[in-house]
Amino acid sequence: MSNGVIQSVLTEKRVFPPFPGLVENANLSGMQAYEALCEQARRDPDAFWGQQARELLVWSKPFTQVLDASQAPTYRWFPDGELNLSVNCLDKHLGTPTADKTAIVFEADDGQVTRVSYRELHARVCVFANGLASLGCKKGDRVIIYLPMSIEAIVAMQACVRLGVTHSVVFGGFSSKSLNERIVDVGASLVITADGQCRGGRKLPLKPAVDDALAMGGCDAVRKVVVYQRTGGEVAWNEGRDVWLHDLLAGQSDQCEPVPVEAEHPSFILYTSGSTGKPKGVQHASAGFLLWALMTTRWTFDIKPDDVFWCTADVGWITGHSYIVYGPLAAGATQVVFEGVPTYPNAGRFWEMIQRHHVSVFYTAPTAIRSLIKAAESTPDVHPRHYTLDSLRIIGSVGEPINPEAWMWYYTQVGRERCAVVDTWWQTETGGHMLTPLPGVTPMKPGSCAMPLPGIEAAVVDEHGKELEAGHGGLLVIKRPWPGMIRNVWGDPERFRKSYFPEELGGVYLAGDSAQKDADGYFWIMGRVDDVLNVSGHRLGTMEVESALVAHPLVAEAAVVGRPDDTTGEAVVAFVVLKRDVPEGAEAVELGKQLRDWIAKEIGPIAKPRDIRFGENLPKTRSGKIMRRLLRTVAKGESVTQDVSTLENPAILDQLSKSV
Ligand code: WTA
Repeated sequence: MSNGVIQSVLTEKRVFPPFPGLVENANLSGMQAYEALCEQARRDPDAFWGQQARELLVWSKPFTQVLDASQAPTYRWFPDGELNLSVNCLDKHLGTPTADKTAIVFEADDGQVTRVSYRELHARVCVFANGLASLGCKKGDRVIIYLPMSIEAIVAMQACVRLGVTHSVVFGGFSSKSLNERIVDVGASLVITADGQCRGGRKLPLKPAVDDALAMGGCDAVRKVVVYQRTGGEVAWNEGRDVWLHDLLAGQSDQCEPVPVEAEHPSFILYTSGSTGKPKGVQHASAGFLLWALMTTRWTFDIKPDDVFWCTADVGWITGHSYIVYGPLAAGATQVVFEGVPTYPNAGRFWEMIQRHHVSVFYTAPTAIRSLIKAAESTPDVHPRHYTLDSLRIIGSVGEPINPEAWMWYYTQVGRERCAVVDTWWQTETGGHMLTPLPGVTPMKPGSCAMPLPGIEAAVVDEHGKELEAGHGGLLVIKRPWPGMIRNVWGDPERFRKSYFPEELGGVYLAGDSAQKDADGYFWIMGRVDDVLNVSGHRLGTMEVESALVAHPLVAEAAVVGRPDDTTGEAVVAFVVLKRDVPEGAEAVELGKQLRDWIAKEIGPIAKPRDIRFGENLPKTRSGKIMRRLLRTVAKGESVTQDVSTLENPAILDQLSKSV
């Protein structure tokens, strides 16, 4: 995160009281009610969580124990209970007025709108689940989903959990190599994909990446590839392995008996970057995950029967899991699902869609807000002021720190100073919101994610686990387990313990972010403390990009750091030592392009370095350690004021300060 942002959040003094119209009818209304709930959860956590789980979830076998901490930090929630997630998102609504309510308003890239009611969605999930079952999918199997934003993606995920199949969704922007690694790591028996996807007026292929991924080896367990026809383009076909989705579903019954699973059964595995080269498969449970997704949907978004909710995330990220596929459906909400991009046909698309669908709760990322601010400045026609946004009540932000200026623009230009801005801090690993203002409770401070939700005990500690006083920056930790928490790094319990529950902190959950609390108890997130970058709200491990770079035949050594960026939050800067002379001029440009394309192929276009710098060497201490702090200074274009006396080869700093 940029130093500019840190500076401005630390001097931020503005406070905006919650809007009275929102407080009155809020699901959680008033500071007193919030504090009472926090107190109740603190006093008797088992009673608190047990009551929530009994009231909010439908169990096929009720639990008798709330939390089993005997194998901490592997916590087991509601361990002897059984349920089915798709029953909790769909069947539950069938006998109620919600059944005929619109569940999904799908808007395609080209603007075409499709509506699906809860009853229809239930039928489609049953048909899909029967199709999967006919291919032999059963409880405990893992299925990879590599689909564009679509009703089918949501149906596919729900169909998996209906059968007790664990899904692992891979974002459509990841390369075949990344896809291959995930298929292998998760041991998938089936892949669900599409021929292609429609984005920004273009048709982009998707299936070739699956074909390539499967050809890379290690995927022998994959028996079938199910292909949703979206673009209608030519596709290479592997007879016997590939199945068209429409053929698979033809003639399937719209009734499908849900398979009850134990509360702790892995509902999904979602890969995210960590501080080593290999992405982590974050494993979530069933009951605890859904409970937390539902509780937070109700609290943070204050969902009411007539709300129209819109989360702009892709289902390939945790935000799409918790706040498209699970939370809103379990809450019986109507939600907008969007296939396209915010800038097509122009950068007014989000505002136009809010107007068209009367969206009342809108949830997006700071990087989108910042790029739409820029667009509105350069093309006044797409400024939100030209759209009717009266339907909005709550506007949310997620994925990275939102700088106070972007917050103010969002609050005034989009929210028209009468909406709650919920700056939600959470992670793939937390399953749902952890720190956030609540619409009916919290006075808002631009740039702060405010306070923990009831049941969440957050703190800022030093590296020995000692709690720090207000005004001191340190490590953000969560002191008590909560139902939505990560259960394991798939297949690697050792990494799970080391990454999230390091011994020196004494058993608390380590988020990997630095933060500080102010005198009012508000949290301010300062950015990651590990080697993880946040580019446009996407987590990227520097080691991941480095190992991809050194896999290139020409590269001898590479170091990757982040540089603050006005739009994307951080940008990737790569320092590269080639196995040959340092290239210059046109040749350097050409090699830079080659390496960028290589990264797109190895990881995905989101990981492409913004800036590549070639040098004869990297700045190292005499003991051979790469001085990353120095590289960060060089990447920002600032002059080096750090002590470079321990540096083996100070002269190369000049070389590395020149961008290609
Ligand atoms: C960052 C996304 C500041 C943080 C849900 C965290 C944030 C990482 C915020 C998780 C926020 C997310 N303010 N920083 N409101 N929300 N982050 O796993 O660094 O993709 O650790 O989950 O994003 O990213 P992830």
